[in-house]
Amino acid sequence: MAIRFRKLHPYVGAEVSPIDLRQCHDRAELEQLRAGMDEYGVLVFRNQPFTDAEQLAFAQRFDGVLHAKPGAAALGANRFGNEAIADISNVDNDGRILAADDRKRAYSLGNRLWHTDASFQDPAGRYSTLSARVIPKVNANTEFADMRAAYDALSDARKQSLEGLRVHHTITRSREILGFEFSAEEKQKLKGAIHPITRVNPRTGRKCLYLASHAARIIDWPVADGLLFVMELMEHATQPRFVYSHEWRDGDFVIWDNLATMHRATAFDDARHHRELRRVTTIDVPLQAVAAA
Ligand code: OGA
Ligand code: MN
Repeated sequence: MAIRFRKLHPYVGAEVSPIDLRQCHDRAELEQLRAGMDEYGVLVFRNQPFTDAEQLAFAQRFDGVLHAKPGAAALGANRFGNEAIADISNVDNDGRILAADDRKRAYSLGNRLWHTDASFQDPAGRYSTLSARVIPKVNANTEFADMRAAYDALSDARKQSLEGLRVHHTITRSREILGFEFSAEEKQKLKGAIHPITRVNPRTGRKCLYLASHAARIIDWPVADGLLFVMELMEHATQPRFVYSHEWRDGDFVIWDNLATMHRATAFDDARHHRELRRVTTIDVPLQAVAAA
């Protein structure tokens, strides 16, 4: 049966059906999904009971190279023994809810700031796949802002002012905003990466803003000027009209394009409710290189 995309929002997000991604191996079908990513930026799939191994395999066959150096690895190995699987949860190794002052919790609260995955690396993150494993009864949505629509809405003068600007992204910046402290040794591992402030999708030619709370400075600018400039653009880009808010259901699997969107987790009572998802992110290596490998 042909894959259908049902729009969830005027700019960003579509629900895809009928498809079982664990069984999806056909290159043409996978490329239809990529075309869907190019159009909608965020794709939602229902009833996809992935295991970790299946999620890793899917991300790899869909897009090639996995991101395996998450910021969290600088703090210690994760409970899965594989850094390509990000532990998006509020539980410890024994499945118990983390204490309010737990370091892992403090670190993961950074996800509540608008960001793009792995913008602190080069190549940066391309697609993130997020698999719902334990979804609380209370609302704990993930929000996605369309950075293409946000770019398009800028004035010509503003667009012009962005040409040639480069931003240093580092995970320490987004965590330090929330008071998280890194040791000198941890900082040593988290130097970050530099990316242009706008990027172009090579398949569609569409331009987008490329921002995140990981943005620490604009290269060659005074720090404060650069941060104020980035913060103002982020405020513009995350206006409600550009944002799709995903309400999680059991079995959901969501894929987003980190070049076309920023995202954030929303607050919930994480001392009471268990919430557990797994993320596998691919990196933005040219597709020709993936095909040749
Ligand atoms: C992520 C992330 C948000 C959430 O998995 O990269 O930012 O709602 N998650 O858990
Ligand atoms: Mn994220």
